[in-house]
Amino acid sequence: MAASSGMPSESPAVIPTVVNVGLMGLGVVGTGVAAHLLGDGPSLSDIAGRPVKLKKVLIRDISRPRDINLPAGLLTTNAEDILADPDIHIVVEVMGGTDPAENYLRQGLAAGKHVVTANKEVMAKSGPELMALARNNGANLLFEASVGGGIPIVGCMMNELAANDIRSIRSIINGTTNYILTRMAHDRTSFEQALGEAQELGYAEADPTNDVEGIDAAYKLTILASLAYRRSFEPVDVYCEGISKLEPQDFRYAEELGYAIKFLAIANLDDGGVQLRVYPALVPLEHMLAKVDGVYNAVEVDGSLCGQVLFHGMGAGREPTTSAVVGDLIEVVRKMGSQTQAVNAQHGAEPQNGTPLTVRPIGDLQARYYIRLDVADSPGVLAQIAQVLGDGQISIAAVLQRDTNPETESAEIVITTHPAKEASIQKALQAMAGLPHVKRVSNTIRIEG
Ligand SMILES: NC(=O)c1ccc[n+]([C@@H]2O[C@H](COP(=O)([O-])OP(=O)(O)OC[C@H]3O[C@@H](n4cnc5c(N)ncnc54)[C@H](OP(=O)(O)O)[C@@H]3O)[C@@H](O)[C@H]2O)c1
Repeated sequence: MAASSGMPSESPAVIPTVVNVGLMGLGVVGTGVAAHLLGDGPSLSDIAGRPVKLKKVLIRDISRPRDINLPAGLLTTNAEDILADPDIHIVVEVMGGTDPAENYLRQGLAAGKHVVTANKEVMAKSGPELMALARNNGANLLFEASVGGGIPIVGCMMNELAANDIRSIRSIINGTTNYILTRMAHDRTSFEQALGEAQELGYAEADPTNDVEGIDAAYKLTILASLAYRRSFEPVDVYCEGISKLEPQDFRYAEELGYAIKFLAIANLDDGGVQLRVYPALVPLEHMLAKVDGVYNAVEVDGSLCGQVLFHGMGAGREPTTSAVVGDLIEVVRKMGSQTQAVNAQHGAEPQNGTPLTVRPIGDLQARYYIRLDVADSPGVLAQIAQVLGDGQISIAAVLQRDTNPETESAEIVITTHPAKEASIQKALQAMAGLPHVKRVSNTIRIEG
């Protein structure tokens, strides 16, 4: 099921005999959506209950070879052919990026057209404004494909799970980075090698920054958290650390300690505030998220009534994303002409009662930590480190000492801690880096669950 803004129309709108769709974008996703509209798969018109027709397709480069044969006259490079056509009732935006996509969405909604989009960046940055624009113009704005590809998480957060107070969301919502971490874990490849492979396979972009630095995951978490906590969060509210600092030995030590390393996007309620964070984390090997491999995504929602619910599936790719976009399209068509109520569970709506939840800073986080240090192989080092941790009221859970290198007279130490405050850990890390026998604080990874 897809998510909807709801629409407070005064009177049922006129239902067109044929519902015309303007498709913006004919790339990976757009080609799948166009194929479906042109007859691939179950009849969309039969499912939606009225005839649905693809009327125009916006692209950038008319000379580019396409994976699909379209009827003559469908392609255009002029957005006005869709936005200014009163006979186009639904705009499906699968172009990506913010400019000009966001402007097109605004224009479409302002003209009273329903909009389906897969655009996480636009929805994360401007979702609440676009939803308001949709409401004010009696239009629906649906965005299931913006998070988790084929996983129906957006609609579920909006509808099926709406009765819950959401205690937490823990998710793997970037397939590219999950592929890289899976390769590093299973084959002990370096980050650079795994990234190169992901690029060769088409899982990672030439510029992988958005994926590996967690920007993409932060957009998706912003959308999920806004739905879960009925507050407009922004991407800047998400604390973000990427995966490029991970090294093969982190995976080896993690496994020895009983953990997998996963790139998590987490939202949780904590003491009247919400913490939003994206970072690599140690997850117990027996936890279901630890078993999510390759380009798969998973979202675990912990609700006050439903308990823990896990969604798992393909988070990207032509077919899964087409499933989400076409599902939204069907919902829009089915709702046409009906008087739906504006619901408060919409993306970014402020709660009717009580004050909106605040965003808790990362320094407030209470977690367990994995710390890897490169130290001089001499007596008393561990005692010095233990002293620093003790001064910060941080207690040690386990210590591993491995990989002594006689040539450099250095050793690698891995420490895990009991729960401690992030601010105290950061202070201790600084102090450790200043110890005479500590050559390098190589990595710090939070432990979840
Ligand atoms: N790919 C996935 O698996 C996936 C999964 C979930 C969500 N999404 C989201 O879906 C959206 C589309 O992704 P995609 O992978 O399908 O992208 P894509 O393969 O790069 O396709 C983009 C399409 O938009 C067209 N386009 C881009 N800028 C344009 C402009 N200024 N004017 C006219 N047309 C323009 C391109 O035209 P040309 O063909 O002429 O270049 C192309 O057809 C993005 O928001 C993405 O985040 C994608």
